[in-house]
Amino acid sequence: MKPVKVGLLGLGTVGTGVVRIVQGNQEDLSSQVGSPITIEKIAVRSIDKARNIDIDPACLTTDPWEVIRDPDIDVIVEVMGGIDSTREYILEALERGKHVVTANKDLMALHGSAILAKAQEKQCDVFYEASVAGGIPIIRTLIEGFSSDRIVKIMGIVNGTTNYILSKMSQEGASYADVLKEAQELGYAESDPTSDVEGLDAARKMAILGTLGFRTNVELSDVTVQGISSITKEDINYAKNLGYEMKLLGIATSQNDHITISVQPTMIRKNHPLASVNGVFNAVYVHGESVGETMFYGAGAGELPTATSVVADLIAVIKNLKLGVNGLKAIVPYKTKKLQSDDQ
Ligand code: NAP
Ligand code: HSE
Repeated sequence: MKPVKVGLLGLGTVGTGVVRIVQGNQEDLSSQVGSPITIEKIAVRSIDKARNIDIDPACLTTDPWEVIRDPDIDVIVEVMGGIDSTREYILEALERGKHVVTANKDLMALHGSAILAKAQEKQCDVFYEASVAGGIPIIRTLIEGFSSDRIVKIMGIVNGTTNYILSKMSQEGASYADVLKEAQELGYAESDPTSDVEGLDAARKMAILGTLGFRTNVELSDVTVQGISSITKEDINYAKNLGYEMKLLGIATSQNDHITISVQPTMIRKNHPLASVNGVFNAVYVHGESVGETMFYGAGAGELPTATSVVADLIAVIKNLKLGVNGLKAIVPYKTKKLQSDDQ
C-alpha cells in the first residue's frame, strides 16, 4: 500500500505529541485509513536542539518551504505557530493541492476566511480542531453535532494557561508569576504568554467558536477582551468568600441576530459547573434553542491532548483524500452579523 506522506511544520510541544501518536499508534491509524502514514519532513527552527523523541535527523529542515514544495507530500500539519509567514505557507500548500491540518487559532481567527476560501477553490481540506480547547472536539461538534439547531449562547473556559494560574492561585495560594512560569514549562503557554494572560488567545478562540456556532463571520475585533494580569490573590479570596470562583470566561450570545462576544475575568458561583473546571482543563457550554444546555470538558492544552485532536484531523483528512471528498471546512455565513453595538 502506498503510504500517505505528511509534512510537519514544527516539532515543539504539539509537534512532538503528533509524532509520538503517529509512531505509537501506527498500526491502528494505518488500518483506519488503509495505508501507512509517514512523516517525511519536519521544519524546525534549530536542527541541533535536543529532542525527547525518536526521529531521523535527515527528516529535519530549517526551511518550511522545503516541506511545502515537496511534491511527494500529501498533507501539511502546521504546529509551529505564527501568523504572517504561516499564512503564506498554508496558502501555498493549498495552491499546490495539499491538505492542511493546523492547531493555529491565531491564524484561523485572523485569516480563517481567506484560508478556507482557498481550500474550497482548490478542493482541499483545512481542519483545525486543536485550535480551540485542545483535546475537546468542539469544532466538529459545532459544525456537525449542532447543524440542526440554532445556538443562542456559548460560554467557555478556553485558555488552559490562565485557568491553571487562577486555579493554583485559588487552591494553593500560589503566586501569579510562579504559576505562569510552571505553565510555560509544562508547554501550555504560547511562545509569548502575553496573549494567554491578556485574554487574546481566548478571544481568538471565542471568535472561532462564535463564527462556527452562529454561522456567521465573527472578527477578532468584535470580541471585547480583558485578561487576568491584574487579578490579585486578594481578588480571588474576595470572590471565594462571597461563594464564587474567578475564571477567565468567554461569553458569546446571539439574540434576534444580535451578537455580543467577550472575554473577561468573571466571578462564577461555586455551584455552577464551570466553577469546578480547574487546572489546564477547559470547558465549553453550548446552549441551543432545541437541544437546551450542553457542556464539553477536557484538557485544553499540553502535548498529547492537543496532538490527539491534530492526529484525529489528520485521519479525517486522509479518509477524505481516499474517498475523493472534502468536508468539515465550511464557514459560510448564512446571515448578516449584527453586533449589539450596531443599535447603540
Ligand atoms: P512550540 O513548543 O513553541 O513549538 C514550535 C515549533 O515550531 C518548534 O519545533 C520550533 O522549532 C518550530 N518553529 C517555530 N518557528 C519556526 C520557523 N520559522 N521555521 C521552522 N520551524 C519553526 O509551540 P507549541 O506549543 O507546540 O504550539 C504550536 C502551535 O499549536 C501554536 O499555533 C499554538 O498556538 C498551537 N497550540 C498549542 C497548544 C499547546 O498546548 N501548546 C495547544 C493548542 C494549540 P524548534 O523546536 O527548533 O524551536
Ligand atoms: N496557550 C494555550 C492555552 C494553548 O493555554 O490554552 C492551547 O490553545
